[in-house]
Amino acid sequence: MKTDTPRPRRLKDYRPPDYLVDHVDLDFALDPERTIVEAKLKVRRNPAAGKARQALVLDGEQLELQRIAIDGKPLTANDYTVDATSLSIAKVSARAFTLELTTVINPEANKALQGLYRSRGVFCTQCEAEGFRRITFFPDRPDVLATYTCRLEADVALAPVLLANGNPVSRGKLGKGRHFAVWHDPHPKPSYLFALVGGDLGHIASTFKTASGRKVDLKIYVEHGKEARAAWAMDALKRSMRWDEKRFGREYDLDVFNIVAVSDFNMGAMENKGLNIFNDRLILASAETATDANFESIESVVAHEYFHNWTGNRITCRDWFQLCLKEGLTVYRDQEFSADERSATVQRIIDVRQLRAMQFTEDAGPLAHPVRPESYIEINNFYTATVYEKGAELVRMIETILGREDFRRGMDLYFERHDGQAATIEDFLTCFEDASKQDLSHFKLWYSQAGTPELVCALRYDRAKKQAELKIEQVLPPTPGETRKKPLHIPVRLGLIGGNGQEIMLKRDTGESIDDGVLHVTKRTQTFRFLDVPSPPVPSILRGFSAPVNLTLNLSDRDLEFLMAHDQDLFNRWQAANTYATRVLVDMVKSLRKGERATARAAGFVKALGASIADEALEPAYRAELLKLPSQSDIARTIGRNVDPGLIFRAHRQLLKLTGTALGAALENICGEMRAQGAFSPDAQSAGRRALRNAALTLLTARGTALDDTRLADHFFKADNMTDEAHGLVLIAAGSGDVREKALAHFFDRWQGDHLVIDKWFAAQAQSPQRSALGQIKALTRHPLFSLEAPNKVRALIGVFALQNPVQFHRPDGAGYEFVAKQVLAIDRFNPSIAARMLGAFRIWHALEPGRRGAAKRVLQGVAKTPDLSRDVFEIVSRMLDR
Ligand code: TRP
Ligand code: ZN
Repeated sequence: MKTDTPRPRRLKDYRPPDYLVDHVDLDFALDPERTIVEAKLKVRRNPAAGKARQALVLDGEQLELQRIAIDGKPLTANDYTVDATSLSIAKVSARAFTLELTTVINPEANKALQGLYRSRGVFCTQCEAEGFRRITFFPDRPDVLATYTCRLEADVALAPVLLANGNPVSRGKLGKGRHFAVWHDPHPKPSYLFALVGGDLGHIASTFKTASGRKVDLKIYVEHGKEARAAWAMDALKRSMRWDEKRFGREYDLDVFNIVAVSDFNMGAMENKGLNIFNDRLILASAETATDANFESIESVVAHEYFHNWTGNRITCRDWFQLCLKEGLTVYRDQEFSADERSATVQRIIDVRQLRAMQFTEDAGPLAHPVRPESYIEINNFYTATVYEKGAELVRMIETILGREDFRRGMDLYFERHDGQAATIEDFLTCFEDASKQDLSHFKLWYSQAGTPELVCALRYDRAKKQAELKIEQVLPPTPGETRKKPLHIPVRLGLIGGNGQEIMLKRDTGESIDDGVLHVTKRTQTFRFLDVPSPPVPSILRGFSAPVNLTLNLSDRDLEFLMAHDQDLFNRWQAANTYATRVLVDMVKSLRKGERATARAAGFVKALGASIADEALEPAYRAELLKLPSQSDIARTIGRNVDPGLIFRAHRQLLKLTGTALGAALENICGEMRAQGAFSPDAQSAGRRALRNAALTLLTARGTALDDTRLADHFFKADNMTDEAHGLVLIAAGSGDVREKALAHFFDRWQGDHLVIDKWFAAQAQSPQRSALGQIKALTRHPLFSLEAPNKVRALIGVFALQNPVQFHRPDGAGYEFVAKQVLAIDRFNPSIAARMLGAFRIWHALEPGRRGAAKRVLQGVAKTPDLSRDVFEIVSRMLDR
């Protein structure tokens, strides 16, 4: 933690490394407070470095250097210098040499959870992005690739399990109750992919036979007693391995694949070569302890980390500006996997909802940045929705533009051409250009231009000529540091629907083929003309959400009702319902502001919704998505300026109640029909039935008759799975009275011994819109089961409050802001990366109405002038106020 203003790093300053490391030999004597690390690095000049500097400069932080030698000869104090972040050796041989280093580190004291630390007694590492430099001195950058051998030594009692990357080589007993294990990773990798684990863990085992017939031993390590809860993750792993072979021709490349679940982890999971380390909430699941949403995210994150083996590990990033090269691509791959394993349409709806909630919000505020940023102060601040989720959308657009076959050819070429390399976005795009013979230079702008484009569309129909004309204008709102933008290449998937509900054949006046239904918007304003359109059509634009943009289109409410009933693109059918609901809600907010009651428009929406959910040809999971109304943050984002979260909360509740009342009988039927059939199963169909039933329950609870209260209480107290139990708890905790106290006490008694499940208890209270919520949340920060040092606890209580409780976080008195800022500063003392992430909740502050805007700004200014901020928080608060 430092005080002097940190300087940004810039993409344009990239230089190849002066020195390369070909092989790394590591030897760890694991000890909670004094772990000794002996490293032997095979170093040589980089022939590609141009005029290499003489000095060898290595990164290193919080290390105690005990010994340093070159080719066996210890260096003297004059030969090298060490400061807070580096080690420099002024003169080294022009020929290859071996650098030997002995460093001492303290895992127990490491609460930043970067480098080597202990989580509930288990030694584990997190080296991405710059954690390896807290283990030993090293050129800690992704373009230095080496093979690794790792020897671990520890007390058998403390760490019977000893794991590292690659394949196991040997293991054995030593004297005095100690033992060792040696691992070797033959695949050259950057230091951020290094990992080790040492601890007393249980495991489950399985095997996988690859397409070419090699056998791989799979193991998942978890806390003793939790082994059965790893079965779903194992199943997901094997399905992922098979899928990557089938879909992308990618086989696994080591004899073993290990996953370890740990409790204290800054992010979701980490793709270390052959040894993935996971936040245990993304591994452990059973019917009693995990919701369907938990099962779903376990499946997709297990897949994500596994897919990184090719997109991230075999081909890595040249520098951290290229982060989206591995993350955007791997998110795209895990989304495709989930779409294939589940319902593709429902998956797309879920992914788009998430994109809009997180990425569009980020893009509209002070933290907006391009998918490939051009500068950063702290790279940990750039593991964002923009890099990940918008990055995935860019890959998806490439697929849409090229078509499925050329896209696959481009991917094949990428794997073939860049295997074993540290690559760039340019390398990636060139593969698709070479494979398809299409020019992607205009498309590339998506990587460097921030902000969410708006497509303003207008359709005109000429009865006499039987022609339809679609005018599309792209509006590119300014983002920090980027006021003028160039038009982008936007693929717009389109359908025209005739009055009879039938699809109209698309025939361009230019004769250009439009077999795939995709229009290529490349100019600021463009008009597309279609011939032989027999009757006035209703346009279905941006089918499947073919580009990450906002759409403005003057459809009447009747048109939306028509699309809700007839659009063959089920994504857009849902979109029509969502657009309609949003219109109604925005109207309601306006009326509330004027002190009126306006519900006329709502009636039309509710009627159309009732017709949609009655369609039993639609699968339950899809109907559940229809019933989930836009969230309060969705409405805030749509309104965009002078947002009053109090009014939004009231409008939202009003529409919930109205819908619950008007569709009451249908919703009651759903609750009955969607009851469980047989034993619990986490598969997509069963989960869809539970989702539909819970969505109906939410609306009926909002109706709020005595019968509805009883139904909710039964749902919670008699639940036989966590999906129903947790959903019930959130709804009950949002209310007040006796049943709330009883339900929370019941849940606590039942789950206090389970550190994962109890997070749902914290989160349910953090979400409560009751005025008393903040006081209760403050009290919970002193609860014996709460800890600021455990990121999952921080996310469950403080994160959920700041992001999922808009009406209380944005209290007009500013007390919500003050509370979160105080927690951020406390966390910043030991875990800057989590602190900075929590502070991100303020990213919408300038869109608020003046009173709250002022309160939030004062709190942010208070944070900014706090002494000794970490680089992480310094960067976020500076960008937040710099506007
Ligand atoms: N590469 C990881 C992923 O996306 C992300 C990650 C895990 C990470 N832990 C981290 C990033 C710590 C930064 C710091 O799968
Ligand atoms: Zn990733």
